[in-house]
Amino acid sequence: MKFQNIISETANGITTITINRPSKLNALNRETIQELHDALEQAEEDSKTKVVIITGAGEKAFVAGADISEFADFSVEEGGNLAAKGQELLFDFVANFSKPVIAAVNGFALGGGLELAMAAHFRIASDNAKMGLPEVSLGVIPGYGGTQRLPQLVGKGRAMEMIMTAGMIDANQALQYGLVNHVTTLEELIEFTNKISGKIMKNSSVAIASAIRAINANYEDGENGFEVEIEEFGNCFGTEDFKEGTQAFLEKRKADFPGK
Ligand code: COA
Repeated sequence: MKFQNIISETANGITTITINRPSKLNALNRETIQELHDALEQAEEDSKTKVVIITGAGEKAFVAGADISEFADFSVEEGGNLAAKGQELLFDFVANFSKPVIAAVNGFALGGGLELAMAAHFRIASDNAKMGLPEVSLGVIPGYGGTQRLPQLVGKGRAMEMIMTAGMIDANQALQYGLVNHVTTLEELIEFTNKISGKIMKNSSVAIASAIRAINANYEDGENGFEVEIEEFGNCFGTEDFKEGTQAFLEKRKADFPGK
């Protein structure tokens, strides 16, 4: 598939999707959101993809937000539709993706950029990264899940402060807040993220998909996470991966998971 605003490459089980509008600090316009959706859909279907990494082109920004030039003259209805469509096409799609999605945050992650990183299953940042939800400085609020996912990740008080001040935190503060799991240099960011992806890929992809569903259930309305865990736990017993994993342990060898 040919893309204008992103680059999607698959090697050694990892699909790296790079948002590629560096002259606009990789801001998410409508087309970029659609392309990200399409690339993710492709990665979901491609059996060669075991892990997805999302990052930004250049040395300055992961994503500096939704493209402000696109919505500056929107009406109330258009504003609501923008948030609803974006959440469905990209942010919820990433959060519920059946394969691990890691955000490699290589610079500014602001507004929709931080919301995209937060929709990913976890985040790794380079030490030049700056993160924030500056929407109230524009007279709007985060609309791509930011008011929900930031408090889940950092706690309500910190999220309130970040959103109300519209300020940015640096990579080390993000680490301290638990917003990112690791901080590396910019040069080492992708290599380090690839290394963690390598550890993930040794495990059962079917079990990982079940774990994603069970963990996410805790944050979904009307879902009982413990019940989803019980159901997913039971489902694992019917998989070839489970047979291989337990057999390999008993035979004192490394498991070679078929991913079924
Ligand atoms: N939407 C549209 N364009 C954006 C953008 C966004 N969210 N963020 C950056 N850009 C564009 C700038 O307009 C500029 O384009 P131009 O060269 O055609 O004028 C280009 O990217 C470079 O940005 P610039 O502001 O010149 O870089 P800087 O280093 O001076 O500042 C930031 C960097 C991130 C502090 C600043 O770009 C910024 O505040 N961006 C908006 C962040 C934001 O509010 N995001 C939330 C949106 S809901």
